[in-house]
Amino acid sequence: MDRERTGALDSKHRARKKITAMLVLVIALTAGNIIVGIQVQEQAKPAVYNISLETPFKEAAGGDVVIGAAVHTWGLKTDTQYRAILETHFNSITPENEMKMGLLRPNQTGFYWDNADYLVNYAESQNMTVHGHTLVWHSQVPGWLDEFSADPANDREAWRAMLKHHIQTVVGRYAGRVHAWDVVNEVVEMGFGGENGYRKTVWYEKIGVDYIKDAFIWAHEADPSAKLYVNDYGICSDLNKLDFTLKLVSQLQGQGVPIHGIGFQGHVSLYGPPVDVIRQAVAMVNSYDVDVWVTELDISVGGKTNIYSTFLANRQATRYAEVVEAFSRAERLVGISTWGVYDGSSWLHRPEQGVFQWPLLFDEAYAPKPCAASFATALSTHVAR
Ligand code: XIL
Repeated sequence: MDRERTGALDSKHRARKKITAMLVLVIALTAGNIIVGIQVQEQAKPAVYNISLETPFKEAAGGDVVIGAAVHTWGLKTDTQYRAILETHFNSITPENEMKMGLLRPNQTGFYWDNADYLVNYAESQNMTVHGHTLVWHSQVPGWLDEFSADPANDREAWRAMLKHHIQTVVGRYAGRVHAWDVVNEVVEMGFGGENGYRKTVWYEKIGVDYIKDAFIWAHEADPSAKLYVNDYGICSDLNKLDFTLKLVSQLQGQGVPIHGIGFQGHVSLYGPPVDVIRQAVAMVNSYDVDVWVTELDISVGGKTNIYSTFLANRQATRYAEVVEAFSRAERLVGISTWGVYDGSSWLHRPEQGVFQWPLLFDEAYAPKPCAASFATALSTHVAR
């Protein structure tokens, strides 16, 4: 991977290497006043880098902490560069979509296993572990759930039976082969520090809050060896949400419910949350009886420019390092997974729609970015034990 690349999108952008200054007429409306000014705007220069990664991430991390990536089947089947990155640097995969209910359950009675099976078989062939994602979520649910919901014959018990069947069929199929499961995903509201911070999802509405507890019990019955996670976003920025989540976990553990870990999704940006807040979040988790997995790490650069500039590349490198350092403070950190393999496969980076985030460690041309080097260094400095 010792290739020189630019971070630019295409040859059109590559041609714009020179810094050009533009005079821009700025018109701003401030509290009813019109302010007209002239501002000198510097057109950003695309980052040019030539990064050589001496040590694969999975080795830099020292072996105790797993380094994963979210993957999709078509990338593995069709893209040799995608596979090469994955197989060099990562020792865990998370199916990005293939194990979600909507994709596993095209109809109510049947299951579509082909892609999920492919991923589990692939992981085994590469000595990678599989982080199962996700058993209970309100998003990416199948269309037939609406019909199920509309049928008045389906009371709470029918919903419980349907969910139990789903969880136990999926977990049971991969028992002993999927090391960890995001059992529930995004079940707590943002900004909530009060009594009832549960997210009012279809599962909450139809079953009541016990669906969370039952989901863990059912998953554990189907595979007692699997590590079971509560996974959520915003819990390294919204400490009230984290507090609610931790208390929920601890309360359920007190009732003997098998919950083993907290998954911090970790979709963060260049600018937030501040690293001190992530450190505070980690300090909070350290006083609970849970493993920690950074399950969906990516660092968006802002989306406002179509040039991946030297500034952005450097800032992203610093940011990856500080985020990893903050999470390394988790006494029971067991995994860090990026949400995708390279910028070209990121859910957040959609150049065709005018959205530019470049959130991952490898660029659209599969070359390691400066943040890949800082990520590797942070792993060896802070994560390897
Ligand atoms: C995203 C996938 O990356 C996309 O391909 C899909 O279209 C939508 O879901 N939190 C989660 C993940 O837990 O499952 C989401 O994945 C990203 C946010």
